[in-house]
Amino acid sequence: MIPVLIGALIALTAADLNILYPNLQPSKIIYFSDSSSQLSVVAEPSKVWSRRGGNATLPCMIERDQSIPPNPKLRVKWTKLTSDFLIELKVYVVMDYLKRSYGDYQGRVHLRGSSPMDASLVITEVTLEDYGSYKCEVIDGLFDATAVVALDIEGVVFPYSPRLGRYNLNFHDAETACEDQDAVVASPEQLYDAWEDKMDWCNAGWLSDGTVQYPITNPREPCGGKNAAAGIRNYGQRDKETSHFDVFCFTSNYTGLFYYLIHPSKLTYDEAVGACQNNGSQIAKVGQMYAAWKLLGYDRCDPGWLADGSVRYPVSCPRPRCSPTGAAVRSHGFPDKKQRLYGVYCFKGPN
Ligand SMILES: *[C@@H]1O[C@H](CO)[C@@H](O)[C@H](O)[C@H]1NC(C)=O
Ligand SMILES: *[C@@H]1O[C@H](CO)[C@@H](O)[C@H](O)[C@H]1NC(C)=O
Ligand SMILES: *[C@@H]1O[C@H](CO)[C@@H](O)[C@H](O)[C@H]1NC(C)=O
Repeated sequence: MIPVLIGALIALTAADLNILYPNLQPSKIIYFSDSSSQLSVVAEPSKVWSRRGGNATLPCMIERDQSIPPNPKLRVKWTKLTSDFLIELKVYVVMDYLKRSYGDYQGRVHLRGSSPMDASLVITEVTLEDYGSYKCEVIDGLFDATAVVALDIEGVVFPYSPRLGRYNLNFHDAETACEDQDAVVASPEQLYDAWEDKMDWCNAGWLSDGTVQYPITNPREPCGGKNAAAGIRNYGQRDKETSHFDVFCFTSNYTGLFYYLIHPSKLTYDEAVGACQNNGSQIAKVGQMYAAWKLLGYDRCDPGWLADGSVRYPVSCPRPRCSPTGAAVRSHGFPDKKQRLYGVYCFKGPN
């Protein structure tokens, strides 16, 4: 009698439990899983790369005891973990014939289903926000198994400070500043990868987890000390409202055309905006220049206006009179918008 009772209790769903015990939050429910483990899931490889606009397949293969008949009521639940791993956001749930995608994932996710044991998740039209860790959870009757897969996005990290000058952004301003450059706030891992790729920047910037850090390849006095080892300097978590720093943004592949406008004369900022519009385009954003430079090897020695009012040019092939010290996006800062000294970079999106 008792085992039956226990079985019945476990079979209650979270919703049932909430009716029985309204104070019991779903996160507090403990799922029982048997240590003899008749069910497991394997996520291999545990890290997947994609680009913005591309597709990604997050692997998750179910392994279960073949001697037990297949369970038609198998449930698969994909969630996204926040950077602190404390919150799970629903992405896709399959239960019987019921399939449901959530939030920004609606219409962009499905199970690969190459076999009944394949619970891999396919994400199409990958966005910058899709970056992060995902959990595949398979529930088979009383058994429950999970695996975590990371989705990494190929792209470029760049430091950003606004026209107001250095150290003027609280965390929320930083998020907006990156968004305005067709980018998102970079994660600590993305900054680390950029540092491994020789990034050296002596101004501290926000990262997506609310920490403030900066990457140093050539240790020097004003940047954490001449004798300190090369590496990431980390100020730790800062108050998101009251602390002000620069930001590290991250962007990836775009759909569209980035180009330098061939124009008979140099332009003021307002003329530059109009000249791109006259050619069916928009004045380009900082992130678009970085993506073109890093991902397409765009190279042009002409300083040009960008949408935020800065003037920059991307150099992939360093040469004596054009960024001799290395490949870089060079900046003239934020000149007087009335000066007629520069060209313009434009961007033509799809449609
Ligand atoms: C992504 O997958 C869809 C179908 O699932 C396909 O039509 C599209 O061409 C793929 N895109 C890329 C960039 O591979
Ligand atoms: C974006 O990806 C597509 C196909 O994957 C490629 O043709 C294009 O050149 C890429 N653009 C950039 C800026 O990397
Ligand atoms: C105008 O825009 C097109 C793309 O729509 C581009 O190919 C062309 O080079 C631009 N014209 C000039 C003068 O830059």
